[in-house]
Amino acid sequence: MTTTAEIERAAGELSLDDVDLTDHSLFADRVPHEAFALLRREDPIHWQNERDGRGFWSLTRHDDITAASKDWQTFSSERGGTSLQDLDADQIEARKSMIDMDPPPHNKLRAIVNRDFTPRAVAQYRDLIGELVDEVLDAAVEKGEVDFVADFSAALPMRVFARMLGAPREDHRYLVELGDRMLGQDDPEYALDPEVMEANRHLPFSNPAALEMFEYGRKLAAARRRTPRDDIVTKLIEAEIDGTPLSERDYDLYFLLLSVAGNETTRHAISHGMLALIENPDQLERMRAEPDLARSAADEILRVSTPVHHFRRTATRDVELRGKTIRENDKVLLWYISGNFDELVFENPYEFDVGRDPNPHMTFGPGGPHFCTGAHLARLEVEIVFQHLIGRIAEFEPAGPVDRLQSNFFNGIKRMPMRLVPA
Ligand code: HEM
Repeated sequence: MTTTAEIERAAGELSLDDVDLTDHSLFADRVPHEAFALLRREDPIHWQNERDGRGFWSLTRHDDITAASKDWQTFSSERGGTSLQDLDADQIEARKSMIDMDPPPHNKLRAIVNRDFTPRAVAQYRDLIGELVDEVLDAAVEKGEVDFVADFSAALPMRVFARMLGAPREDHRYLVELGDRMLGQDDPEYALDPEVMEANRHLPFSNPAALEMFEYGRKLAAARRRTPRDDIVTKLIEAEIDGTPLSERDYDLYFLLLSVAGNETTRHAISHGMLALIENPDQLERMRAEPDLARSAADEILRVSTPVHHFRRTATRDVELRGKTIRENDKVLLWYISGNFDELVFENPYEFDVGRDPNPHMTFGPGGPHFCTGAHLARLEVEIVFQHLIGRIAEFEPAGPVDRLQSNFFNGIKRMPMRLVPA
């Protein structure tokens, strides 16, 4: 990583007019930290024009992002959804899962699965996660030279979730593929044909893979209706909101949200964590010497990786923030990637410190009603992954250039050639 002084110097050479956060290529080689540093310092509530949109506000300071996230009455997830793209009212309605709703309906939906994701509930998956990590790692070690993303970090999160769902083992690869087809569309390599997107405009991400995910979820629901189990799908089909079961569409969208939300995100956190340890061998040695750091290291990996750069809100009224007037219906982006490097909150924010404590990162959101449902599960996965990697692998050797996803939404790594030398 770079130092604060280097970022500050680079920020000093930029002007606010140079910053275009809609330009995905800005994120091609690395996170443009200098742009965020400049915004935090000079214009933390920043208006940005858009080529094919109506413009938006960027909130880049930790405290502003946190306050806006908690004030859901003013900064709504429901009014325009949570992605930057402007959708028509019919699209918003057709694609609306709980992440795009405000309380109280949001809370009622969320309560259906909340108890499956508490620290206690996810702790019971510790051994299972360890077994899956070893399984994936055995195959990777056997290969010797691997694409760390395809062979390791992508293979894991969907398998863990598939096991939580009780999906048959032979379906795991299919579920990983479906998840992959649905996200990452900002990058030219994965972009869908505009005609295909238009034809599927009422589906999440305008992507036909969403229909396949719905069908898969319905198949599991039918199986659980015949034989209920103590699992998430059974909870969803048995749930009642104010005395009424979920509609088919609500079930479809809930199933899809849960299936995709932890897939790419956890993958990118694992890939970035690997990269951070390769780039900071002293921190790798520290983790080898002090296994008790596993937990704080997981949080530091989550902070520096920030797999989701931002989510959107829409103002429900005119509101003043730091002397700027945000108008009703304006789009407001909460840049978690910026909050996670805010120098007013994190000492030496560009330093990767596996013992960082406290570490109030906002990788899972800063704590409003939408705080990531899967946060404890994802944190546990990251913790176990690196415990096992460090325990079993003596050397992590880069074997080619790292290929990043070009996206202002995901902080992603597409390919990462490596050699894994077992201990
Ligand atoms: C490193 C991995 C992950 C990251 C970085 C991540 C990030 C996020 C973020 C930033 C939010 C929105 C927070 C907000 O607006 O305040 C969110 C929401 C959500 N996440 Fe995660 N997530 C991860 C893993 C998971 C996993 C494993 C699951 C479930 C299996 C999951 C399920 C959800 C759901 C259902 C929501 C919507 C919650 C709501 O609207 O109330 N996430 N996540």
